This record gives sequence, structure tokens and C-alpha cells, in this order.
Amino acid sequence: MKRTDKKSTEVPSIPEAASLEVSPGVSLDGHRALWHAGQGWLAVADLHLGYARRRQELGGLWPDWGDEQVEATMVALLRKYQPERLILCGDIADGAASVRETREILSRLSVLVPQTIYVRGNHDRKLASVEEMTWVETHSERADSEEWIFFHGDRLTPLIEAVEDSTSERIHTVQGHIHPAVRLDDGAGTRSSVPALLERTGSVSGKAVTNWVMPAFTQWSSGGAVADCAAYSVQRTWACHPKAVLPVV
Ligand SMILES: [Fe+2]
Repeated sequence: MKRTDKKSTEVPSIPEAASLEVSPGVSLDGHRALWHAGQGWLAVADLHLGYARRRQELGGLWPDWGDEQVEATMVALLRKYQPERLILCGDIADGAASVRETREILSRLSVLVPQTIYVRGNHDRKLASVEEMTWVETHSERADSEEWIFFHGDRLTPLIEAVEDSTSERIHTVQGHIHPAVRLDDGAGTRSSVPALLERTGSVSGKAVTNWVMPAFTQWSSGGAVADCAAYSVQRTWACHPKAVLPVV
């Protein structure tokens, strides 16, 4: 089978997913995106573009697809919500295996939204060396007394600095990196691991924060369960699937 590069106008059409409000004015889309209608931003994390190619370079036979699905899903989300800003919370690329292809996908997506913010993740070192791209360690969205601070999650120093600089009464931090998932069991033999969104509470530099851990956008490397830790306790979890966004108790 011959591989072909496809342009955004040629990507497969992806049906809209279910969504659920998880915080006032903020919805989790079943395609693993967080949407803040009032502030006009759409956030996703851990696209890991080039995942399959990297596995092949390491000698793996599987998986050998994935980027087309990521691009098509992103196109569907951008058409549905028409955000002012798209925030990519790190691990946009999986590594050095497909920098050119990743750049092509990002440039096709960037024409569908007024502004794209690239938050650097630990897998983005090679992609971040591309000169025409502008990267940030954190990105902040403020309105009224509420602030949302986006970071990847592998380095805490930039987040600590951003929180210390904040004068907002309510601070939300949004990260990727962990790839949370929950295991669903119907009790009759069907079990499935489903990517999840976590809401955690904790404190950063003595300030109370609500920490949101995004489900990984890639269909690969969906991760596993996340428990309380020294910094945060998990308050709520949602299983995130295109057919349904389900609170998990
Ligand atoms: Fe990741």
C-alpha cells in the first residue's frame, strides 16, 4: 500500500463527539479537548504526531498509522468550536522521527484558527529547534478573577513562576504529560481502558490551585490510572470517549 500525504481539505470527516460541562463555562469534548466558550480557547495535549513512524524506526511493526486520525479530529474540533486560540499543551511531536510531517500538519491546522499556542513538552525538543516556530513554557488566559495557566507537566519551575506572578483569585492549571486513563468494566466480560480528564486540587507556592490533567490526544499510549500524590488529590474523573463523556465514581 502506498502512503500519500493529504491536505486538510482531504482529511476524513470525523463525526462530532459528545461533550459535558466539567466546570462553569468549560466543556470536555469526547474527542479529548477542553473548550472554554467565554474565553474562546480550545486546549488539547499530547498529540504525539509521528508516534507510529518513531516505533517503526525502533524496529516495531505496529502501529503504522495515527497522524491522519489526529489531524482529522483536530480539523473536526476546530470547525465545531471555531476557537480564537488553539492551545497545544506539549508533546505535540513524539520525537525526532517526523519533524517535517509534523510541521506540515501543524501548518495546515494553523490556517483554521486565528492563533495557535505551542507549549513545549519533553518530546518536542527536535520540533522546537525549527526556527519559525514560537514556543512557550506556560501560557495564561485571564478573565475577571479567574486565570487558566497551561503547561506540559514535565517541568514545574515555569508553572511555579506563573502561579507566583498571578494575582487572580481562582487559579486553574492545565497540563498533559501524564496520559490518565480509567478502566471500564461492564461486569460481563467487556473491559476497556478509556482516556480520562482529572480534576485535582492542591497548592503551588502556597496558593490553592485546581489542576486539570488532560487525556492524551493520541490514540496510542493512552496511559493508566492516576492516584493522589503529595502535591494533589484527585477530586473528579471523567472517562472521555467520542460517544459519551462519563463522570467516574
Ligand atoms: Fe505525552
